[in-house]
Amino acid sequence: MRRLITIVSRISGLGCMRAVVAVAMGLSMSSSLYAADLTVSESSFGCIRDWTKVRNTYIKHADPDKLKEAVRIFKNSVPDKEYPVGTFLQLLPDEAMVKHPRQTFPETNGWEFFHLDLSAQGTKIRTRGDQTVNFQGVKCFSCHQPAVKYDFVCEKGHGCAPVPLDDQKIAELQAADPRCKKN
Ligand code: HEC
Repeated sequence: MRRLITIVSRISGLGCMRAVVAVAMGLSMSSSLYAADLTVSESSFGCIRDWTKVRNTYIKHADPDKLKEAVRIFKNSVPDKEYPVGTFLQLLPDEAMVKHPRQTFPETNGWEFFHLDLSAQGTKIRTRGDQTVNFQGVKCFSCHQPAVKYDFVCEKGHGCAPVPLDDQKIAELQAADPRCKKN
């Protein structure tokens, strides 16, 4: 067997190098495909306060440069600008928006809405998709839709109907996220 490998590698010589390059290219192609086809599972979520906070909202992205870009868009309310694929946004600990490639959810520019169940053990996904409803049975997107100019991010003043919670209540709910370690 070993002799066969030696012979084969002698014969292939340069060709072998080409194969290595081809395999490497294939791998990098498949990893970029993987990035385009974002996978979100329960373990994608955790203590909301571990993410970057801008005003009321927590922002996460696995890629530090893309996180910076998402924070910039959010902080400056940049109009007509889409958030990078892979951006996670949370206002309330049990609700989240995650940006997929546009074609995954064409109606919402790729945003997927999550309604989560939280406990000290972690996150369970109750509902997900572009049709998700909140704790009152109201469709997430029905409220976020007016903010079309801001990639459906509401904040205050982007045209969305307000959430029935004031800033202090929002802060209390964020402080009470059961997934965060007690200190
Ligand atoms: C009553 C309308 C309404 C409904 C229903 C609603 N939202 Fe929102 N959402 C808002 C408003 C308004 C804000 C901005 C609040 C603020 O920043 O003070 C917001 C903020 C957010 C944010 C932070 C980023 C942003 O857009 O400002 C996320 C994430 C979010 N909502 C997800 C959801 C999810 C997921 C659902 C459904 C489970 C949902 N929302 C249902 C109105 C709504």
